[in-house]
Amino acid sequence: MELGLTGKVAMVAGASRGLGFAVAQALAQEGARVSIASRDAQAIDSAAGRIGGDVLALPVDVRSAADITRWAGETTKRFGGVDLLFTNSGGPPAGAAVSFDDEAWQDAANLLLFSALRMVRAAVPLMQARGGGAILMSTSASVKEPIPNLGLSTVLRASVSALAKTLAIELAPSGIRVNQIIPGRIDTDRVRHLDEVNAGKQGISVEEAKGRAIAAIPAGRYGEAEEYGRVGAFLLSDAARYMTGATVQVDGGLIKSVL
Ligand SMILES: NC(=O)c1ccc[n+]([C@@H]2O[C@H](COP(=O)([O-])OP(=O)(O)OC[C@H]3O[C@@H](n4cnc5c(N)ncnc54)[C@H](OP(=O)(O)O)[C@@H]3O)[C@@H](O)[C@H]2O)c1
Repeated sequence: MELGLTGKVAMVAGASRGLGFAVAQALAQEGARVSIASRDAQAIDSAAGRIGGDVLALPVDVRSAADITRWAGETTKRFGGVDLLFTNSGGPPAGAAVSFDDEAWQDAANLLLFSALRMVRAAVPLMQARGGGAILMSTSASVKEPIPNLGLSTVLRASVSALAKTLAIELAPSGIRVNQIIPGRIDTDRVRHLDEVNAGKQGISVEEAKGRAIAAIPAGRYGEAEEYGRVGAFLLSDAARYMTGATVQVDGGLIKSVL
């Protein structure tokens, strides 16, 4: 199948490792020119080296509006415009919803919701100038079913889901598609950290916590980042050109709801 990604310019956030890296790598393998960003300058440079080819790597904290504006500007300067955007960041701290104060809620809103909103605001005019584009917003299984001890993530990611659907309707006339991708439990640093948190909370070993998490996944294992990255690249590609406003789960069957 021809994905039509050759020569497309993609901004990929949170891309030094994990899910963002996997999407950037899959896009680059299909011929896209990727502009990758994360906070740690050394880590994002190293990610660019692992991807290889025509990659722009910039230190960007997606909680900062100024950083996002600079990222979009540098990407345009280097590649001449933007066609694709993958919104993503690190996860907020684990804990029960009632355990966080206003400041923690505001920090999490900045990390998850306002980051996505600002990336979209920076990228959309650049896509419109090229006659269209595609945006993929990464959320979590918590948008379908609250995850215990992930109060901040559960509440704020639902607002990102609503944003994705709203934008899909608003931006379709401009030829810009907006979809949402849901990782179930993909084997990354974040999931390893959450296994440690859960183990500590339940007073069990990390292996046991991981075993319990896997027991809830019909596929019987965690996903690999590459498996998520390839679906992400497909959803951003022309092969998915009649898909907008869709939510796609990459979860080995973890989410049990019918829709
Ligand atoms: N893995 C899963 O199965 C899963 C499931 C549900 C939800 N999620 C969510 O999906 C997101 C990505 O997950 P992951 O597993 O890839 O996490 P990860 O392994 O922790 O990687 C996070 C990436 O985001 C970057 N990052 C973190 N904070 C950032 C910021 N403020 N600005 C820019 N970049 C930032 C990190 O690089 P730097 O440290 O260099 O900034 C890193 O490249 C997280 O929000 C996570 O909670 C993941």
